[in-house]
Amino acid sequence: MEVLQAISNRRSHRAYKKEQLAEDVLSAILKAGLEAPSARNRQPWHFSVVQDPELIQEVHDEAAKNRTADTGSPRFRDPDFQMFYHAPTVIFIFGEKDFYWSHVDCGIAVENMALAAESLGIGSVILGLPRPAFSGAKADELRARLGCPESYDFVIALALGYATDQKEPHDIRIENISRIK
Ligand SMILES: Cc1cc2nc3c(=O)[nH]c(=O)nc-3n(C[C@H](O)[C@H](O)[C@H](O)COP(=O)(O)O)c2cc1C
Repeated sequence: MEVLQAISNRRSHRAYKKEQLAEDVLSAILKAGLEAPSARNRQPWHFSVVQDPELIQEVHDEAAKNRTADTGSPRFRDPDFQMFYHAPTVIFIFGEKDFYWSHVDCGIAVENMALAAESLGIGSVILGLPRPAFSGAKADELRARLGCPESYDFVIALALGYATDQKEPHDIRIENISRIK
């Protein structure tokens, strides 16, 4: 699929089949993340691929418990809400804490992976909501169980799977562009 087509077709998907991704598809998505550009080529990321639904649920529970008005979402009004939408694979992206460009670099990597997934017929959603799981009482334990290296912290996550929902493209805000000639 052409890059522009993948960019246009990508949506945040919030419902998934249980069916797991094939290993070669997952590898291709991860490779796209590793191929992302980064400031000074520091590659200040660590990708933790989780396919254990119980661990994913634990991260959900901990993030839900520690959420605040700023880090929560109206979606929690639904008692069945699970922030990973029961996707079969979640990639947690941890960034080097003391590197100035970590969040930008991890953001570029996650979008590379989301677009690679789209081009391979896999749905995804980028997730910031898990973040409070890594600031509460179980933060160190969860970082360790997820294989987060020392002096890295959670930046963003990407849920992946075969999407079962349909979504319109988001509104395009042309006023967000200024042109100076
Ligand atoms: C940094 C970031 C964090 C996000 N966090 C969440 C999240 O925690 N839960 C969620 O359902 N969607 C999350 N999203 C998805 C956005 O809601 C979505 O990208 C936006 O509504 C536009 O829709 P689209 O992705 O389908 O174009 C996040 C997106 C970004 C870029």
